Amino acid sequence: MQLTFTEQVQTATIIVGVAKNVQRATVQAVEAFVPVSDFVKLGDIQTEAGTLTKIPVAHETVKRILFIGLGSGDVSTETIRNGFGAAAKALKESSVTIALDTFTNDTIDAQQAAYLAAEGLVLGGYRVPNYKTTSNAQDVTLEKVAFIGEEDEAVLESFTVGCIYAEAQNEARSLVNMPPNLLTATALADYAVDMANEFGLEVEVLTKAEITELGMGGILAVNQGSSEEPRVITLKYKATDDWSDVLGLVGKGVTYDTGGYSLKPKDGMVGMKGDMGGAAAVLGAMRVIAQLKPAKNVVAVIGSTDNMVSADAIKPDDVITMYNGKTVEVLNTDAEGRLVLADAVVYAQQQGANAIVDVATLTGGVIIALGMDKTGALTNDDELFETLLEASIDTDEFIWRLPLTENDKKRIRKSNVADYNNSPGRDGHMIFGGGFVGEFVGDMPWIHLDIAGTSEAKSASPIGQAGGTGVMVRTLAAFVEELAEN
Ligand code: BES
Ligand code: ZN
Ligand code: ZN
Repeated sequence: MQLTFTEQVQTATIIVGVAKNVQRATVQAVEAFVPVSDFVKLGDIQTEAGTLTKIPVAHETVKRILFIGLGSGDVSTETIRNGFGAAAKALKESSVTIALDTFTNDTIDAQQAAYLAAEGLVLGGYRVPNYKTTSNAQDVTLEKVAFIGEEDEAVLESFTVGCIYAEAQNEARSLVNMPPNLLTATALADYAVDMANEFGLEVEVLTKAEITELGMGGILAVNQGSSEEPRVITLKYKATDDWSDVLGLVGKGVTYDTGGYSLKPKDGMVGMKGDMGGAAAVLGAMRVIAQLKPAKNVVAVIGSTDNMVSADAIKPDDVITMYNGKTVEVLNTDAEGRLVLADAVVYAQQQGANAIVDVATLTGGVIIALGMDKTGALTNDDELFETLLEASIDTDEFIWRLPLTENDKKRIRKSNVADYNNSPGRDGHMIFGGGFVGEFVGDMPWIHLDIAGTSEAKSASPIGQAGGTGVMVRTLAAFVEELAEN
């Protein structure tokens, strides 16, 4: 995106924020074109949050003003981001001018407003890639943005950072939206390698032979019924030469989840191409980190395979041996994510991680507990979680922590034939899913994020279409930036 400041507006559209008590900035920005206060009084310009009003004007260059409603009272970051998201959907041109002053207030300065504008425009402008052979869609992508006012480096930089965050989230969305016959574990690994090469990250991909050699029994068990090879993908962002303080980001990369022999019902299976949403979030976050270069070492590990049925597939009652040597009684082959993640967190620790955040579309239980708009969390470290929570509040991605008790752990450890079982029951089973992963992390600071509800949207929102949301890309990246500052 090309960025400039302008005195003389050169684009057909100006974007202006307007609150219930029309601010002076709003009037000033467009007084040459529209009598804003009068139009607001008449109801011809809407001011409620979530509204857009397009007013055509007669002028040589300026053809219309797009008013984003900011509501009354304190304008939230979400209102601004969503407003620009909606604006992006309404735009039909490749360049636009923003009256940035009209989006600032006591708590949101020009830099933050520029950042939110970038996120909204890039996220709202996202289109789900499709494979239609005939298409008459003429999507225009935004290429140039100008701000009314004087040159300010910090504002431009902030806009660029917003673009980087949102573009990474869109990348994650596209991965989630990809059909599972095209996005296999091998393809996901190829994507990661390309990304690593483009942005200068270290990358390693383990093949099936290597995974077998290492004895990653959890990943191999899930892969056992598949004709596709599994992959373990590792990316390293080295902030310093000293690789001793390293955050591990671990993602579930199940490219398709049939449930295995504990087969999903047909309606529950559709959509399971998105079971690699955790992997997508981790890759998206690494894409941001590689560009913004925070002072914090990060290793990302993704365990990837599909979960299929065949004569070779694992069965309920099987006992498997995990990468760390512990045994698991498989009671439900549909509880496969925890088996993949358990091996991946151990590998992340071997690669140097001394704190772990795992992200996964792990359980339907989190949807029952929290709905489709909240990510569920478990943790063994209040302080680390507090930092992540703050990042999530800044990015407006809702996270809610559930408890993990000794009684829960007892049930995960209950088996007559093995150290663990992978499915202690349906009651509160989000906790059993994440808690199982926690058993393999051990005492190291750890946060588990279950994005089964939030990774995909059933319907469109101001900042996205239905489909993959790219949730947690921004939170994880902001979290790493936050850690880098402490
Ligand atoms: N991939 C699913 C979880 C899921 C459900 C993701 C809905 C997205 C939307 C996971 O592997 C799974 O099947 N979990 C089971 C666990 C159960 C068998 C203990 C579930 O939640 O039902
Ligand atoms: Zn499953
Ligand atoms: Zn799954």
